[in-house]
Amino acid sequence: MNRILIGAQWGDEGKGKVIDLLARKSDVIVRYQGGNNAGHTIKFNDQKFVLHLIPSGILHPGKICVIGNGVVIDPEALFDEVALLEKAGIKVRGRLFVSDQAHLIFPYHKLMDQLKEESCKKGKAIGTTKRGIGPCYADKMARVGIRVGDLKSLPYFKDRLTYVLKERNEFLVKIHHARPLPFKKIFDHFNQYRARLLGFALDTPKYLYDATKARKDILFEGAQGTLLDVDHGTYPFVTSSNATVGGAITGSGISPTFIDRVIGVTKAYTTRVGEGPFPTQFPPKLMKLIQTKGEEFGATTGRARRCGWFDAVIGRHAVRINGLDELAIMKLDILSGLPELKIATAYRVNGKLTKDYPHAIFEFSKARPVYETWKGWQEDITHVRRWSQLPLNARRYLKRVEALMETPIKIVSVGSKRNQTIFL
Ligand code: IMP
Ligand code: MG
Repeated sequence: MNRILIGAQWGDEGKGKVIDLLARKSDVIVRYQGGNNAGHTIKFNDQKFVLHLIPSGILHPGKICVIGNGVVIDPEALFDEVALLEKAGIKVRGRLFVSDQAHLIFPYHKLMDQLKEESCKKGKAIGTTKRGIGPCYADKMARVGIRVGDLKSLPYFKDRLTYVLKERNEFLVKIHHARPLPFKKIFDHFNQYRARLLGFALDTPKYLYDATKARKDILFEGAQGTLLDVDHGTYPFVTSSNATVGGAITGSGISPTFIDRVIGVTKAYTTRVGEGPFPTQFPPKLMKLIQTKGEEFGATTGRARRCGWFDAVIGRHAVRINGLDELAIMKLDILSGLPELKIATAYRVNGKLTKDYPHAIFEFSKARPVYETWKGWQEDITHVRRWSQLPLNARRYLKRVEALMETPIKIVSVGSKRNQTIFL
């Protein structure tokens, strides 16, 4: 069975844990978009792993992991991660494959990301992770990107880098008044990684086709979330890739006819890191409480995540765009102890009531949530393993979320450990 796992909010939904759970019943785990802007946290044998680029399935012995063509790769970040895993005794060689069509992140991408963010006027910055993700995808679309497979021919790579760097340096000097980046340093840097990187390179679309034909089970591991998708998210406050279901198709080279299920992951509340509108954001005191209790600090940048109530309007948007078959609801335990819980069921935008997500940012930023209020529960639920053991008010809350999302809940997470999970 081939399954795609999608974030139904603004990322950080807890996909790392769900992938870790589902990886057991998969043979191949594939990342298909984003880069090391992602941060997937997995607790495993009392050890905490934060993976940014390598699929979380790598923690399961014997599973094959693929970094697809839609991912952007910073070789330094990749090999740091390989080293970290190997140090923990996890075998990577022979289990990790990288698409030769994947684009490479160069130092000028990182510099441009940083300079662009820093030069923005108030309200214009996106709050990126400054990993060079946006500029790298921009170059891909502008057809001036450099791919993993380009490293196979040194003369081609040299020629291409010379051509691209000239243009990039002009931009850095003229627009940002920065110093030009030296060709030799970049070339040598990549040359040093070349052989190792090519050692992982593979025609991954063909590999995935063959795996499907051989009845292997493939799990597609999404990064970020629906509302950060460059087409379907809160543009321009988004990442530069397709974090929705289509990204899994183009970003891995698998045909949609080979996909059996799409699973949406959402927190029992909502978080967002970086800039951009967030209608259900908590007032400061409650925000502080949930941030602390939920350890809501970015796994990549360490920034505090903004927190808010569950938003069924963006939730339904995620259900529609991704055709979600089922839901995993994460971090329900963090809501324990609150007297009451709110769920946004609609918005009021410029006085008009709507149940649908408004695409224009100038409308979305004006959205005032219409809330329903539900009774909370006071019990600690971190030891609960069965639906029937959950407090009645927790079940009522989840049933309401399920109804509003028009999608069955199959997983409820009540803690960060693997076994702190209720399967329905
Ligand atoms: P970029 O992906 O670094 O360009 O950042 C664009 C926006 O996406 C910023 O608001 C980031 O905070 C957000 N973002 C990128 N990756 C993640 C993630 O893995 N989780 C949550 N937010 C992310
Ligand atoms: Mg994350």
